[in-house]
Amino acid sequence: MKILVTGGAGFIGSHTVVELQEAGYDVVVLDNLCNSSMKSLERVEKITGKKVPFYRADILDRAALDRIFEAEKADAVIHFAGLKAVGESVEKPWEYYENNIAGTLTLVDVMKKHGVKNIIFSSSATVYGNPAFIPITEECPKGQCTNPYGWTKSMLEQILSDIQKADSEWNVILLRYFNPIGAHKSGTIGENPSGIPNNLMPYITQVAVGKRERLGVFGNDYDTHDGTGVRDYIHVVDLARGHVKALDKIKENAGLKIYNLGTGVGYSVLDLVKNFEEATGVQIPYDIKPRRAGDIATCYADAQKAREELGWEAQYGIKEMCEDSWRWQKNNPNGYEE
Ligand code: NAD
Ligand code: UFG
Repeated sequence: MKILVTGGAGFIGSHTVVELQEAGYDVVVLDNLCNSSMKSLERVEKITGKKVPFYRADILDRAALDRIFEAEKADAVIHFAGLKAVGESVEKPWEYYENNIAGTLTLVDVMKKHGVKNIIFSSSATVYGNPAFIPITEECPKGQCTNPYGWTKSMLEQILSDIQKADSEWNVILLRYFNPIGAHKSGTIGENPSGIPNNLMPYITQVAVGKRERLGVFGNDYDTHDGTGVRDYIHVVDLARGHVKALDKIKENAGLKIYNLGTGVGYSVLDLVKNFEEATGVQIPYDIKPRRAGDIATCYADAQKAREELGWEAQYGIKEMCEDSWRWQKNNPNGYEE
């Protein structure tokens, strides 16, 4: 079975390509490299010992997509390509709606034209807004997003669901990721944020490696066990394996399916700092800062549905997530830049 992976040079995409190749799938990657480097795929090839056919193309470029689908005859698409910086999306809403929504509409139209009606889509726990209940099951109502990035995920879920409802030949699997961290055990591929990291773990690892002085903890007055925000951190390799499992649903012609991909366990900001220090022996100095606009207190998954229906469950705990994030950062202080 051949899988076209959009955004496959990125953080989650590159880890998923490894797991797909190791599971025996044929893989083709399409990425415009706007937030990634070809080096990630060169390193994937070293890990798996297999070639990764690559097209530098934009999902907005209908003619390029047409050529790729014509040449590759893929059976399914795993669709990671998208812009994902929450803060930037508030500054540049048009760019986010254009890239993520118009891009996906173009991709899906070309897929349909070529008779490829199988898609796994990268959604996010952000679609739950401030969740109605915790732990969050897939039945939890979708909520108000606090930024355009989140709305693109919520709207694309609706668009893809409606397409599947109108044409039952489509299989649409919506995967709602919680907070991916960690890196491949080899320490050769990992998260590579440009500029100042928005997310907690890359900020911590950049403090650890000496690129940033101190972590700012955004608020210690939330209604949580220590006042700092609680999230469901999930190892990126576990997340990647969730996509391999989701392909079984496509083979079963399962139609429309929605799964949370999380561990079911919540850690606060200070829990993560403490676990990182214990796992790596590196101290992370921090200051308490005001709350960050749009943040919620607590977000963690009920992971039962994916366990029961996909036979998928996270294997790695917080210690391995911290060790693996650190190995990647330590070995690659400047990410993929030499
Ligand atoms: P990433 O930025 O590392 O990967 C996204 C990739 O898509 C990049 O390689 C980028 O170059 C590519 N891309 C962007 N726009 C494109 C376009 N128009 N055409 C072709 N390629 C394009 O991000 P990631 O963390 O690997 O995230 C992958 C997906 O998962 C994204 O859709 C993201 O929104 C979603 N997601 C991520 C998180 C997270 O915390 N990392 C959480 C929930 C959902
Ligand atoms: N935090 C800090 N300091 C930092 C960065 C983050 O204290 O420098 C805190 C945040 O306030 C929050 C927690 O660490 O309490 C996690 O923040 P992240 O930015 O790492 O992650 P979020 O939960 O805010 O958002 C992430 C992705 C979104 C995605 C969401 C749900 O960035 O794209 O998870 O999957 F939608």
